[in-house]
Amino acid sequence: MDADARVGVAPTRMLPRLVPLAGAAVRPATALAGATLVVTGSGPAAVRVVELLRRHGATVRTGTAVEPGTVDGVDGLVLLDGLTGGQPPLLPGVFGLVKRVLAGGPRWMLAVADPSTGAYADGLGGLFRTIARECPSTVSRLVVVDAAQPVERVAQQVVDELLVDDDAVVVHRVGGERCGWELTPVGLGALAAGGAGPAGDGAAEARAVGLDRDSVVVLVGGARGITSWFARTLAAAAGCRIELVGRTPLPAGPEDPVLAAATDPAALRAALARQRIGSAATIGRTAAAILAGREVRATLRELSELGAEAHYHTLDVRDPEATRRLLAAIHGQYGRIDGLVYGAGTIEDKLIAEKDPESFSRVFDTKVGGAQAVLSALDSLGGRPSFVVLFGSIAAAYGSRGQGDYAAANDALAAIGSRWAARTGNRCLTVHWGPWAPSEGHGGMVSAELGREYARRGIGLIDPEEGALSLLAELAWGDPAVTSVVHTASGW
Ligand SMILES: NC(=O)c1ccc[n+]([C@@H]2O[C@H](COP(=O)([O-])OP(=O)(O)OC[C@H]3O[C@@H](n4cnc5c(N)ncnc54)[C@H](OP(=O)(O)O)[C@@H]3O)[C@@H](O)[C@H]2O)c1
Repeated sequence: MDADARVGVAPTRMLPRLVPLAGAAVRPATALAGATLVVTGSGPAAVRVVELLRRHGATVRTGTAVEPGTVDGVDGLVLLDGLTGGQPPLLPGVFGLVKRVLAGGPRWMLAVADPSTGAYADGLGGLFRTIARECPSTVSRLVVVDAAQPVERVAQQVVDELLVDDDAVVVHRVGGERCGWELTPVGLGALAAGGAGPAGDGAAEARAVGLDRDSVVVLVGGARGITSWFARTLAAAAGCRIELVGRTPLPAGPEDPVLAAATDPAALRAALARQRIGSAATIGRTAAAILAGREVRATLRELSELGAEAHYHTLDVRDPEATRRLLAAIHGQYGRIDGLVYGAGTIEDKLIAEKDPESFSRVFDTKVGGAQAVLSALDSLGGRPSFVVLFGSIAAAYGSRGQGDYAAANDALAAIGSRWAARTGNRCLTVHWGPWAPSEGHGGMVSAELGREYARRGIGLIDPEEGALSLLAELAWGDPAVTSVVHTASGW
Protein backbone atom coordinates (compact mmCIF):
# COMPACT_ATOMS: atom_id res chain seq x y z
CA MET A 1 0.00 0.00 0.00
CA ASP A 2 1.39 3.47 -0.84
CA ALA A 3 2.57 5.47 2.12
CA ASP A 4 0.67 8.60 1.03
CA ALA A 5 -2.66 6.78 1.14
CA ARG A 6 -2.36 5.72 4.76
CA VAL A 7 -0.75 8.52 6.68
CA GLY A 8 -3.15 9.45 9.41
CA VAL A 9 -3.26 11.88 12.30
CA ALA A 10 -5.02 12.11 15.66
CA PRO A 11 -8.61 13.28 15.15
CA THR A 12 -10.04 16.56 16.37
CA ARG A 13 -13.11 16.32 18.58
CA MET A 14 -16.04 18.48 17.55
CA LEU A 15 -19.44 19.02 19.11
CA PRO A 16 -22.54 20.21 17.27
CA ARG A 17 -24.21 23.37 18.55
CA LEU A 18 -27.23 25.26 17.38
CA VAL A 19 -26.41 28.85 16.35
CA PRO A 20 -28.59 31.65 15.00
CA LEU A 21 -28.58 32.00 11.21
CA ALA A 22 -28.57 35.70 10.63
CA GLY A 23 -28.83 37.88 7.56
CA ALA A 24 -30.30 35.50 4.98
CA ALA A 25 -32.11 37.20 2.09
CA VAL A 26 -35.80 36.39 1.84
CA ARG A 27 -37.36 36.38 -1.61
CA PRO A 28 -40.81 37.94 -2.00
CA ALA A 29 -43.78 35.56 -1.94
CA THR A 30 -44.26 36.30 -5.64
CA ALA A 31 -41.32 33.89 -6.19
CA LEU A 32 -43.87 31.12 -5.63
CA ALA A 33 -46.22 32.33 -8.38
CA GLY A 34 -46.52 29.83 -11.22
CA ALA A 35 -44.67 27.07 -9.38
CA THR A 36 -46.18 23.59 -9.19
CA LEU A 37 -45.64 21.93 -5.83
CA VAL A 38 -46.55 18.53 -4.43
CA VAL A 39 -47.45 18.91 -0.76
CA THR A 40 -47.95 15.82 1.39
CA GLY A 41 -49.62 15.68 4.80
CA SER A 42 -53.12 16.33 6.03
CA GLY A 43 -53.03 18.00 9.43
CA PRO A 44 -54.36 21.55 10.04
CA ALA A 45 -50.93 23.15 9.51
CA ALA A 46 -50.47 21.31 6.20
CA VAL A 47 -53.91 22.46 5.06
CA ARG A 48 -53.00 26.07 5.95
CA VAL A 49 -49.66 25.82 4.07
CA VAL A 50 -51.54 24.71 0.95
CA GLU A 51 -53.92 27.68 1.29
CA LEU A 52 -51.01 30.13 1.63
CA LEU A 53 -49.12 28.64 -1.32
CA ARG A 54 -52.23 28.88 -3.52
CA ARG A 55 -52.77 32.45 -2.38
CA HIS A 56 -49.20 33.22 -3.53
CA GLY A 57 -50.00 31.84 -6.99
CA ALA A 58 -48.58 28.32 -6.76
CA THR A 59 -50.35 25.28 -8.14
CA VAL A 60 -50.50 22.68 -5.38
CA ARG A 61 -51.09 18.96 -5.74
CA THR A 62 -51.81 17.23 -2.44
CA GLY A 63 -51.19 13.67 -1.31
CA THR A 64 -49.24 11.71 1.26
CA ALA A 65 -45.60 10.64 1.32
CA VAL A 66 -46.81 7.12 0.55
CA GLU A 67 -49.29 8.15 -2.17
CA PRO A 68 -48.13 11.50 -3.48
CA GLY A 69 -49.87 11.30 -6.87
CA THR A 70 -48.01 12.29 -10.01
CA VAL A 71 -44.78 14.21 -9.50
CA ASP A 72 -43.67 14.60 -13.11
CA GLY A 73 -42.40 18.06 -13.91
CA VAL A 74 -43.08 19.56 -10.47
CA ASP A 75 -41.01 22.43 -9.12
CA GLY A 76 -40.90 21.11 -5.62
CA LEU A 77 -41.82 18.50 -3.04
CA VAL A 78 -42.93 19.66 0.41
CA LEU A 79 -43.26 16.82 2.93
CA LEU A 80 -45.52 17.89 5.79
CA ASP A 81 -46.82 14.52 7.05
CA GLY A 82 -44.57 14.94 10.11
CA LEU A 83 -46.61 17.85 11.43
CA THR A 84 -49.12 15.37 12.78
CA GLY A 85 -47.84 12.96 15.44
CA GLY A 86 -47.63 9.18 15.20
CA GLN A 87 -46.31 9.09 11.63
CA PRO A 88 -43.98 6.20 10.71
CA PRO A 89 -40.39 7.05 9.68
CA LEU A 90 -40.22 8.49 6.16
CA LEU A 91 -36.95 6.69 5.38
CA PRO A 92 -36.04 4.49 3.75
CA GLY A 93 -39.46 4.27 1.99
CA VAL A 94 -39.60 7.88 0.76
CA PHE A 95 -36.26 7.64 -1.06
CA GLY A 96 -37.90 6.48 -4.32
CA LEU A 97 -40.21 9.53 -4.31
CA VAL A 98 -37.35 11.92 -3.53
CA LYS A 99 -35.30 10.44 -6.36
CA ARG A 100 -38.20 10.76 -8.83
CA VAL A 101 -38.78 14.40 -7.93
CA LEU A 102 -35.05 15.23 -8.08
CA ALA A 103 -34.86 13.73 -11.57
CA GLY A 104 -36.93 16.71 -12.80
CA GLY A 105 -34.44 19.25 -11.41
CA PRO A 106 -36.86 20.92 -8.94
CA ARG A 107 -36.30 24.20 -7.16
CA TRP A 108 -37.42 22.87 -3.77
CA MET A 109 -37.02 19.70 -1.76
CA LEU A 110 -38.36 20.50 1.68
CA ALA A 111 -39.49 18.45 4.66
CA VAL A 112 -40.85 19.66 7.97
CA ALA A 113 -40.55 17.74 11.20
CA ASP A 114 -41.05 18.04 14.92
CA PRO A 115 -38.64 15.53 16.54
CA SER A 116 -40.79 15.39 19.67
CA THR A 117 -43.40 13.55 17.60
CA GLY A 118 -41.10 10.54 17.04
CA ALA A 119 -38.91 8.94 14.42
CA TYR A 120 -40.69 10.39 11.37
CA ALA A 121 -37.72 12.47 10.15
CA ASP A 122 -34.87 10.13 11.19
CA GLY A 123 -32.07 10.38 8.64
CA LEU A 124 -33.61 13.16 6.54
CA GLY A 125 -30.89 15.61 7.66
CA GLY A 126 -28.13 13.39 6.25
CA LEU A 127 -30.07 12.76 3.03
CA PHE A 128 -30.91 16.44 2.51
CA ARG A 129 -27.29 17.51 3.16
CA THR A 130 -26.28 15.08 0.43
CA ILE A 131 -28.96 16.41 -1.94
CA ALA A 132 -27.49 19.90 -1.36
CA ARG A 133 -24.11 18.57 -2.54
CA GLU A 134 -25.43 16.57 -5.50
CA CYS A 135 -28.12 18.99 -6.70
CA PRO A 136 -26.82 22.49 -5.89
CA SER A 137 -29.59 24.29 -7.79
CA THR A 138 -32.29 22.72 -5.59
CA VAL A 139 -33.14 24.28 -2.22
CA SER A 140 -32.77 21.19 -0.01
CA ARG A 141 -34.06 21.84 3.47
CA LEU A 142 -35.27 20.03 6.57
CA VAL A 143 -37.17 22.46 8.75
CA VAL A 144 -37.49 21.52 12.39
CA VAL A 145 -40.45 23.22 14.04
CA ASP A 146 -42.45 23.00 17.22
CA ALA A 147 -45.70 21.60 15.85
CA ALA A 148 -47.49 22.56 19.07
CA GLN A 149 -47.31 26.25 18.09
CA PRO A 150 -50.45 27.85 16.64
CA VAL A 151 -51.23 26.50 13.15
CA GLU A 152 -50.90 29.92 11.51
CA ARG A 153 -47.38 30.37 12.88
CA VAL A 154 -46.17 26.90 11.82
CA ALA A 155 -47.64 27.36 8.33
CA GLN A 156 -45.95 30.76 7.94
CA GLN A 157 -42.59 29.29 9.03
CA VAL A 158 -42.90 26.59 6.35
CA VAL A 159 -43.74 29.08 3.60
CA ASP A 160 -40.90 31.38 4.77
CA GLU A 161 -38.41 28.50 4.46
CA LEU A 162 -39.35 28.11 0.79
CA LEU A 163 -38.42 31.74 0.31
CA VAL A 164 -35.24 32.08 2.38
CA ASP A 165 -32.26 32.21 0.09
CA ASP A 166 -29.29 30.65 1.89
CA ASP A 167 -27.38 27.37 2.03
CA ALA A 168 -28.69 26.17 5.40
CA VAL A 169 -29.98 22.62 5.04
CA VAL A 170 -31.16 21.71 8.53
CA VAL A 171 -32.95 24.71 9.97
CA HIS A 172 -34.52 24.88 13.42
CA ARG A 173 -37.23 27.44 13.99
CA VAL A 174 -36.75 28.27 17.66
CA GLY A 175 -39.19 30.89 18.89
CA GLY A 176 -38.88 33.69 16.37
CA GLU A 177 -35.35 32.70 15.38
CA ARG A 178 -33.83 30.60 12.58
CA CYS A 179 -30.97 28.43 13.83
CA GLY A 180 -28.59 25.96 12.20
CA TRP A 181 -25.95 23.46 13.29
CA GLU A 182 -22.30 24.35 13.61
CA LEU A 183 -19.49 21.98 14.54
CA THR A 184 -17.02 23.45 17.03
CA PRO A 185 -13.73 21.91 18.18
CA VAL A 186 -14.06 21.13 21.90
CA GLY A 187 -11.30 19.36 23.84
CA LEU A 188 -11.93 16.79 26.54
CA GLY A 189 -10.69 19.04 29.32
CA ALA A 190 -7.77 19.26 31.69
CA LEU A 191 -7.84 15.66 32.89
CA ALA A 192 -7.56 14.26 29.38
CA ALA A 193 -4.84 16.71 28.41
CA GLY A 194 -2.71 16.81 31.53
CA GLY A 195 -3.93 14.28 34.07
CA ALA A 196 -3.99 10.53 33.90
CA GLY A 197 -4.77 10.55 30.20
CA PRO A 198 -1.65 11.13 28.21
CA ALA A 199 0.24 8.00 29.31
CA GLY A 200 -0.66 6.89 25.82
CA ASP A 201 -1.56 3.24 26.45
CA GLY A 202 -5.19 3.84 27.38
CA ALA A 203 -4.88 2.11 30.77
CA ALA A 204 -5.93 5.20 32.74
CA GLU A 205 -8.86 5.72 30.38
CA ALA A 206 -9.96 2.09 30.72
CA ARG A 207 -9.90 2.46 34.52
CA ALA A 208 -11.88 5.69 34.30
CA VAL A 209 -14.52 3.91 32.18
CA GLY A 210 -14.63 1.20 34.84
CA LEU A 211 -13.26 -1.58 32.61
CA ASP A 212 -11.14 -4.38 34.04
CA ARG A 213 -10.37 -8.00 33.18
CA ASP A 214 -13.84 -9.18 34.23
CA SER A 215 -15.68 -6.64 32.09
CA VAL A 216 -17.50 -7.81 28.97
CA VAL A 217 -17.59 -5.65 25.85
CA VAL A 218 -19.56 -6.69 22.76
CA LEU A 219 -18.37 -5.25 19.46
CA VAL A 220 -20.78 -5.73 16.57
CA GLY A 221 -18.64 -5.50 13.43
CA GLY A 222 -15.57 -5.66 15.67
CA ALA A 223 -13.80 -8.55 13.97
CA ARG A 224 -13.03 -6.49 10.89
CA GLY A 225 -12.21 -2.97 9.78
CA ILE A 226 -11.80 0.04 12.05
CA THR A 227 -13.89 -1.38 14.91
CA SER A 228 -11.25 -4.12 15.29
CA TRP A 229 -8.72 -1.35 16.10
CA PHE A 230 -10.91 -0.38 19.04
CA ALA A 231 -11.17 -4.04 20.09
CA ARG A 232 -7.35 -4.22 20.23
CA THR A 233 -7.15 -0.96 22.16
CA LEU A 234 -9.62 -2.37 24.71
CA ALA A 235 -7.66 -5.61 24.92
CA ALA A 236 -4.37 -3.78 25.52
CA ALA A 237 -5.77 -1.17 27.91
CA ALA A 238 -8.28 -3.21 29.94
CA GLY A 239 -7.59 -6.87 29.12
CA CYS A 240 -11.37 -7.32 29.25
CA ARG A 241 -13.47 -10.05 27.66
CA ILE A 242 -14.26 -9.24 24.08
CA GLU A 243 -17.22 -10.65 22.17
CA LEU A 244 -17.01 -9.98 18.44
CA VAL A 245 -19.98 -10.20 16.08
CA GLY A 246 -20.15 -10.26 12.28
CA ARG A 247 -21.77 -12.06 9.33
CA THR A 248 -18.57 -13.68 8.05
CA PRO A 249 -18.46 -17.35 9.00
CA LEU A 250 -15.31 -18.32 10.87
CA PRO A 251 -13.44 -20.72 8.55
CA ALA A 252 -13.73 -24.27 9.92
CA GLY A 253 -10.32 -25.70 9.09
CA PRO A 254 -7.00 -24.61 7.64
CA GLU A 255 -7.02 -22.96 4.23
CA ASP A 256 -6.13 -24.77 1.02
CA PRO A 257 -2.31 -24.25 1.00
CA VAL A 258 -2.36 -23.01 -2.62
CA LEU A 259 -4.85 -20.28 -1.73
CA ALA A 260 -3.15 -19.57 1.60
CA ALA A 261 0.05 -18.76 -0.30
CA ALA A 262 -1.84 -16.00 -2.16
CA THR A 263 -1.57 -13.24 0.41
CA ASP A 264 -2.94 -10.22 -1.46
CA PRO A 265 -6.32 -9.83 -3.19
CA ALA A 266 -4.93 -9.88 -6.74
CA ALA A 267 -2.86 -13.04 -6.09
CA LEU A 268 -5.88 -14.70 -4.45
CA ARG A 269 -8.17 -13.91 -7.39
CA ALA A 270 -5.50 -15.28 -9.77
CA ALA A 271 -5.18 -18.48 -7.71
CA LEU A 272 -8.99 -18.93 -7.70
CA ALA A 273 -9.09 -18.31 -11.46
CA ARG A 274 -6.52 -21.07 -11.96
CA GLN A 275 -8.83 -23.40 -9.99
CA ARG A 276 -11.61 -22.57 -12.52
CA ILE A 277 -14.27 -22.02 -9.82
CA GLY A 278 -16.57 -19.98 -12.08
CA SER A 279 -17.21 -16.53 -13.52
CA ALA A 280 -15.24 -13.41 -12.65
CA ALA A 281 -18.09 -12.41 -10.31
CA THR A 282 -17.91 -15.78 -8.50
CA ILE A 283 -14.14 -15.42 -8.20
CA GLY A 284 -14.55 -11.89 -6.81
CA ARG A 285 -17.15 -12.99 -4.23
CA THR A 286 -15.14 -16.05 -3.19
CA ALA A 287 -11.96 -14.00 -2.79
CA ALA A 288 -13.81 -11.40 -0.70
CA ALA A 289 -15.22 -14.14 1.56
CA ILE A 290 -11.79 -15.73 2.02
CA LEU A 291 -10.20 -12.38 2.83
CA ALA A 292 -13.01 -11.60 5.31
CA GLY A 293 -12.47 -14.96 7.03
CA ARG A 294 -8.73 -14.30 7.22
CA GLU A 295 -9.37 -10.89 8.75
CA VAL A 296 -11.64 -12.37 11.45
CA ARG A 297 -9.01 -14.96 12.31
CA ALA A 298 -6.27 -12.34 12.38
CA THR A 299 -8.28 -10.19 14.81
CA LEU A 300 -8.86 -13.14 17.15
CA ARG A 301 -5.14 -13.99 17.01
CA GLU A 302 -4.13 -10.39 17.72
CA LEU A 303 -6.55 -10.11 20.66
CA SER A 304 -5.27 -13.33 22.13
CA GLU A 305 -1.65 -12.13 21.73
CA LEU A 306 -2.67 -9.06 23.73
CA GLY A 307 -3.87 -11.38 26.49
CA ALA A 308 -7.60 -10.79 26.08
CA GLU A 309 -10.26 -13.50 26.13
CA ALA A 310 -12.05 -13.05 22.81
CA HIS A 311 -14.86 -14.93 21.06
CA TYR A 312 -16.44 -14.53 17.67
CA HIS A 313 -20.15 -14.97 16.87
CA THR A 314 -21.59 -15.21 13.37
CA LEU A 315 -24.77 -13.13 13.15
CA ASP A 316 -26.60 -10.88 10.74
CA VAL A 317 -27.57 -8.10 13.11
CA ARG A 318 -30.55 -7.16 10.91
CA ASP A 319 -32.27 -10.24 12.40
CA PRO A 320 -33.76 -8.88 15.66
CA GLU A 321 -34.65 -12.25 17.16
CA ALA A 322 -31.21 -13.77 16.50
CA THR A 323 -29.61 -10.60 17.90
CA ARG A 324 -31.71 -10.83 21.06
CA ARG A 325 -30.76 -14.50 21.48
CA LEU A 326 -27.04 -13.80 21.05
CA LEU A 327 -26.92 -10.91 23.51
CA ALA A 328 -29.01 -12.92 25.99
CA ALA A 329 -26.56 -15.83 25.67
CA ILE A 330 -23.53 -13.58 26.27
CA HIS A 331 -25.27 -11.91 29.20
CA GLY A 332 -26.31 -15.31 30.53
CA GLN A 333 -22.75 -16.62 30.37
CA TYR A 334 -21.07 -13.73 32.20
CA GLY A 335 -23.98 -12.14 34.06
CA ARG A 336 -23.03 -8.77 32.56
CA ILE A 337 -22.49 -6.71 29.45
CA ASP A 338 -20.47 -3.63 30.39
CA GLY A 339 -20.19 -2.02 27.01
CA LEU A 340 -21.47 -2.40 23.49
CA VAL A 341 -19.94 -0.96 20.33
CA TYR A 342 -22.05 -0.99 17.19
CA GLY A 343 -19.75 -0.75 14.15
CA ALA A 344 -21.76 -2.68 11.57
CA GLY A 345 -22.23 -0.85 8.30
CA THR A 346 -22.04 -1.24 4.54
CA ILE A 347 -21.62 1.14 1.63
CA GLU A 348 -22.97 0.95 -1.92
CA ASP A 349 -21.94 4.41 -3.11
CA LYS A 350 -23.80 5.96 -6.05
CA LEU A 351 -25.26 9.36 -6.81
CA ILE A 352 -28.95 9.65 -5.89
CA ALA A 353 -29.84 9.81 -9.60
CA GLU A 354 -28.30 6.35 -10.11
CA LYS A 355 -29.14 4.72 -6.79
CA ASP A 356 -31.92 2.17 -6.68
CA PRO A 357 -34.26 2.18 -3.66
CA GLU A 358 -33.37 -1.43 -2.73
CA SER A 359 -29.71 -0.45 -2.44
CA PHE A 360 -30.68 2.59 -0.34
CA SER A 361 -32.66 0.30 1.98
CA ARG A 362 -29.83 -2.22 2.36
CA VAL A 363 -27.37 0.47 3.46
CA PHE A 364 -29.97 2.18 5.67
CA ASP A 365 -31.24 -0.99 7.33
CA THR A 366 -27.78 -2.33 8.21
CA LYS A 367 -27.20 0.73 10.39
CA VAL A 368 -30.72 1.54 11.54
CA GLY A 369 -32.39 -1.88 11.72
CA GLY A 370 -29.25 -3.40 13.23
CA ALA A 371 -28.86 -0.70 15.87
CA GLN A 372 -32.55 -0.98 16.77
CA ALA A 373 -32.18 -4.76 17.12
CA VAL A 374 -29.19 -4.35 19.43
CA LEU A 375 -30.78 -1.64 21.57
CA SER A 376 -34.02 -3.53 22.02
CA ALA A 377 -32.04 -6.67 22.87
CA LEU A 378 -30.26 -4.65 25.58
CA ASP A 379 -33.67 -3.44 26.80
CA SER A 380 -34.87 -7.01 27.16
CA LEU A 381 -31.83 -7.90 29.30
CA GLY A 382 -32.73 -5.19 31.75
CA GLY A 383 -29.07 -4.48 32.61
CA ARG A 384 -27.33 -1.14 32.44
CA PRO A 385 -24.21 -1.19 30.27
CA SER A 386 -21.80 1.61 31.18
CA PHE A 387 -21.70 2.64 27.56
CA VAL A 388 -23.12 2.01 24.12
CA VAL A 389 -21.19 3.47 21.20
CA LEU A 390 -22.67 3.69 17.72
CA PHE A 391 -20.18 4.19 14.87
CA GLY A 392 -21.57 6.97 12.71
CA SER A 393 -19.96 8.99 9.95
CA ILE A 394 -19.09 12.57 9.18
CA ALA A 395 -21.20 12.01 6.04
CA ALA A 396 -24.24 12.51 8.30
CA ALA A 397 -23.00 15.87 9.56
CA TYR A 398 -22.01 17.36 6.22
CA GLY A 399 -23.62 15.16 3.55
CA SER A 400 -21.45 13.27 1.11
CA ARG A 401 -21.68 13.08 -2.69
CA GLY A 402 -22.57 9.53 -3.68
CA GLN A 403 -23.50 8.54 -0.12
CA GLY A 404 -27.10 9.72 0.33
CA ASP A 405 -28.11 6.37 1.85
CA TYR A 406 -25.09 6.19 4.12
CA ALA A 407 -25.40 9.82 5.27
CA ALA A 408 -29.10 9.27 6.02
CA ALA A 409 -28.41 6.02 7.86
CA ASN A 410 -25.75 7.55 10.11
CA ASP A 411 -27.94 10.56 10.82
CA ALA A 412 -30.83 8.27 11.78
CA LEU A 413 -28.47 6.19 13.92
CA ALA A 414 -27.63 9.22 16.06
CA ALA A 415 -31.32 10.08 16.48
CA ILE A 416 -32.16 6.52 17.55
CA GLY A 417 -29.23 6.45 19.99
CA SER A 418 -30.13 9.75 21.56
CA ARG A 419 -33.79 8.77 22.04
CA TRP A 420 -32.68 5.45 23.58
CA ALA A 421 -30.35 7.26 25.99
CA ALA A 422 -33.15 9.65 27.00
CA ARG A 423 -35.63 6.82 27.48
CA THR A 424 -33.39 4.39 29.40
CA GLY A 425 -30.99 6.73 31.19
CA ASN A 426 -28.08 4.74 29.73
CA ARG A 427 -25.07 6.35 28.08
CA CYS A 428 -25.30 6.06 24.29
CA LEU A 429 -22.86 7.98 22.14
CA THR A 430 -22.79 8.20 18.34
CA VAL A 431 -19.30 8.99 17.08
CA HIS A 432 -19.44 10.47 13.60
CA TRP A 433 -15.98 9.53 12.34
CA GLY A 434 -14.12 11.24 9.57
CA PRO A 435 -12.29 8.83 7.25
CA TRP A 436 -9.67 6.57 8.80
CA ALA A 437 -6.40 5.90 7.05
CA PRO A 438 -6.51 2.48 5.40
CA SER A 439 -4.28 -0.03 7.11
CA GLU A 440 -2.83 -3.39 6.16
CA GLY A 441 -5.13 -6.18 7.36
CA HIS A 442 -7.95 -4.09 8.86
CA GLY A 443 -8.42 -1.41 6.24
CA GLY A 444 -12.17 -0.84 6.55
CA MET A 445 -14.24 1.11 4.07
CA VAL A 446 -11.48 3.51 2.98
CA SER A 447 -9.47 1.66 0.35
CA ALA A 448 -5.96 2.76 -0.58
CA GLU A 449 -7.43 4.30 -3.75
CA LEU A 450 -10.05 6.25 -1.78
CA GLY A 451 -7.35 7.27 0.72
CA ARG A 452 -5.35 8.79 -2.15
CA GLU A 453 -8.48 10.54 -3.45
CA TYR A 454 -9.12 12.07 0.00
CA ALA A 455 -5.48 13.18 0.18
CA ARG A 456 -5.85 14.82 -3.26
CA ARG A 457 -8.96 16.70 -2.05
CA GLY A 458 -7.17 17.83 1.12
CA ILE A 459 -9.24 15.59 3.38
CA GLY A 460 -7.19 14.34 6.33
CA LEU A 461 -7.28 10.74 7.51
CA ILE A 462 -7.44 9.45 11.07
CA ASP A 463 -4.52 7.34 12.25
CA PRO A 464 -6.15 4.03 13.38
CA GLU A 465 -4.34 3.81 16.71
CA GLU A 466 -5.06 7.45 17.46
CA GLY A 467 -8.68 6.99 16.42
CA ALA A 468 -9.18 4.04 18.73
CA LEU A 469 -7.48 5.85 21.64
CA SER A 470 -9.58 8.95 20.99
CA LEU A 471 -12.73 6.87 21.48
CA LEU A 472 -11.44 5.43 24.75
CA ALA A 473 -10.56 8.96 25.91
CA GLU A 474 -14.04 10.14 24.87
CA LEU A 475 -15.62 7.43 27.02
CA ALA A 476 -13.27 8.19 29.92
CA TRP A 477 -13.34 11.98 30.00
CA GLY A 478 -16.29 13.02 27.84
CA ASP A 479 -19.58 14.22 29.32
CA PRO A 480 -21.82 11.11 29.54
CA ALA A 481 -24.81 13.26 28.60
CA VAL A 482 -23.34 13.98 25.14
CA THR A 483 -25.05 11.72 22.62
CA SER A 484 -23.33 12.77 19.40
CA VAL A 485 -19.76 13.83 18.65
CA VAL A 486 -17.59 14.17 15.56
CA HIS A 487 -14.00 12.91 15.51
CA THR A 488 -12.26 13.84 12.29
CA ALA A 489 -8.88 14.79 10.88
CA SER A 490 -9.53 17.83 8.68
CA GLY A 491 -10.96 19.25 5.52
CA TRP A 492 -14.31 17.46 4.93
N1 LIG B 1 -13.44 3.39 7.72
C1 LIG B 1 -13.77 4.64 7.90
O1 LIG B 1 -13.00 5.55 7.56
C2 LIG B 1 -15.07 5.01 8.55
C3 LIG B 1 -15.39 6.37 8.63
C4 LIG B 1 -16.60 6.74 9.22
C5 LIG B 1 -17.41 5.78 9.77
N2 LIG B 1 -17.08 4.47 9.68
C6 LIG B 1 -18.00 3.50 10.29
O2 LIG B 1 -17.28 2.56 11.03
C7 LIG B 1 -17.90 1.28 10.94
C8 LIG B 1 -16.90 0.26 10.46
O3 LIG B 1 -16.51 0.61 9.16
P1 LIG B 1 -15.23 0.00 8.45
O4 LIG B 1 -14.62 1.04 7.65
O5 LIG B 1 -14.44 -0.72 9.42
O6 LIG B 1 -15.93 -0.99 7.41
P2 LIG B 1 -15.87 -2.56 7.28
O7 LIG B 1 -14.49 -3.04 7.30
O8 LIG B 1 -16.71 -2.87 6.10
O9 LIG B 1 -16.58 -3.03 8.59
C9 LIG B 1 -17.97 -3.19 8.70
C10 LIG B 1 -18.21 -4.22 9.77
O10 LIG B 1 -19.60 -4.40 9.93
C11 LIG B 1 -19.88 -5.81 9.88
N3 LIG B 1 -21.23 -5.95 9.35
C12 LIG B 1 -21.74 -5.39 8.21
N4 LIG B 1 -23.02 -5.76 8.05
C13 LIG B 1 -23.34 -6.53 9.11
C14 LIG B 1 -24.51 -7.20 9.50
N5 LIG B 1 -25.64 -7.12 8.79
N6 LIG B 1 -24.48 -7.93 10.65
C15 LIG B 1 -23.36 -8.01 11.39
N7 LIG B 1 -22.21 -7.39 11.07
C16 LIG B 1 -22.20 -6.66 9.94
C17 LIG B 1 -18.78 -6.38 8.97
O11 LIG B 1 -18.53 -7.73 9.21
P3 LIG B 1 -19.10 -8.87 8.21
O12 LIG B 1 -18.84 -8.40 6.83
O13 LIG B 1 -18.35 -10.07 8.63
O14 LIG B 1 -20.55 -8.93 8.53
C18 LIG B 1 -17.60 -5.56 9.44
O15 LIG B 1 -17.03 -6.12 10.59
C19 LIG B 1 -19.08 1.45 10.00
O16 LIG B 1 -20.23 1.61 10.76
C20 LIG B 1 -18.77 2.71 9.24
O17 LIG B 1 -19.94 3.36 8.85
C21 LIG B 1 -15.94 4.07 9.07
